Amino acid sequence: MSSFLIPVELAAGETRVAASPETVKKFVALGFQVYIEKGAGLSAGFADDDYGDVGGRIVSVGELNIWGEADVVLCVRSPSKESLEMMKANAVLVGLLSPYRNHSLASSLVSRELSALALELLPRISRAQSSDVLSSQANIAGYKSVLLAAGALDRYFPMLMTAAGTVQPAKVVVLGAGVAGLQAVATARRLGAVVFVSDIRPAVKEQVESLGARFISPPDVMEKPAESGGYAQQATEDFLIAQRQKLSDHLSEADVAICTAQVPGKNAPRLISEEMLDRMRPGSVVVDLAVDQGGNCAETKKGETFIRKGVKLIGASDLPCSVPNHASSLYSRNLLALLEPFLKDGELNIDLEDELIAGCLICHQGEICFSDLSIEGGVA
Ligand code: NAI
Repeated sequence: MSSFLIPVELAAGETRVAASPETVKKFVALGFQVYIEKGAGLSAGFADDDYGDVGGRIVSVGELNIWGEADVVLCVRSPSKESLEMMKANAVLVGLLSPYRNHSLASSLVSRELSALALELLPRISRAQSSDVLSSQANIAGYKSVLLAAGALDRYFPMLMTAAGTVQPAKVVVLGAGVAGLQAVATARRLGAVVFVSDIRPAVKEQVESLGARFISPPDVMEKPAESGGYAQQATEDFLIAQRQKLSDHLSEADVAICTAQVPGKNAPRLISEEMLDRMRPGSVVVDLAVDQGGNCAETKKGETFIRKGVKLIGASDLPCSVPNHASSLYSRNLLALLEPFLKDGELNIDLEDELIAGCLICHQGEICFSDLSIEGGVA
């Protein structure tokens, strides 16, 4: 019988866990031994007993060499090098492994002869939707970004007619209308704001308008950023200059800007400059979800909130960690959906020909199979 390990997440600020009691119950029913490191689910609202009640085995570090025992490790963030170095040959690691930036990961995967699935790389095809952790987590980030903005704003979001007179609705500008951006639009609309959206993919216009928001079309320049696999590619600096010019007037009238524009594996496009911030009204709020990738907005800082010339800047990294119970439940279901087709007779046998597996397999039994996986001192 093969075994799964659900470790405590050690990354700073990480509150999620990679398996909920609901999914542990399924893995147990499929014939697996599931070790849950003591306290692994606590910050996500799952007690050890919740896992024990569905057949999981709670283990403390030191009680068993759980890293060395496990055939499959399900994690949210990449485990420490020390933990990876304890894993047994041919074990499989599954999680958000930051394959573009995780410098020590590649050397551990190779030296320990491990296989690894980096969930960031899952192809965005229809069949992948139930496994798509980027979507489930980005949805949460988009929702929470609007709640943060509404909490920080010095105005109401909805239009209100009161005995003291009428209050106009807040104007919200959403930059980037991928999964997080569209959820931000929907949440801001539910709160009654007037919403404007900028994206560079033409397909987005219809989605934005169907949510009751207005689309700010891309600047009219010859060289538009390409699109591949549903993702925008990096825009040229000339394009971004024109785009910033177009956005500047909108932002000068905005109460809130929600920044979600990203390009996979690259720095986020800079869409709000210092000059544009200077034109925003005191009391307005910018929530920058792209801050981990360098930010869409000048001067935002990861995990920090501060006021710059009256404008509140919120560098909102890791928002899914602020909704850890639902974030973990959805993440866990995504992992179950991805792995379930390959779980038979108490064994995990991943099919290397499967499109989803091939897309996110970064290392197979110690052989690197994702060329961008960086290692210390160079590219593998
Ligand atoms: P993302 O987080 O990589 O980017 C967010 C948004 O920023 C994108 O809409 C992108 O076009 C936009 N953006 C990039 N540069 C910009 C700029 N200069 N100005 C304004 N906006 C800019 O995207 P996410 O949310 O991961 O979604 C990417 C694509 O994947 C979308 O087409 C989405 O519909 C698709 N998708 C497909 C799924 C599936 O079929 N399994 C599941 C989820 C998403």
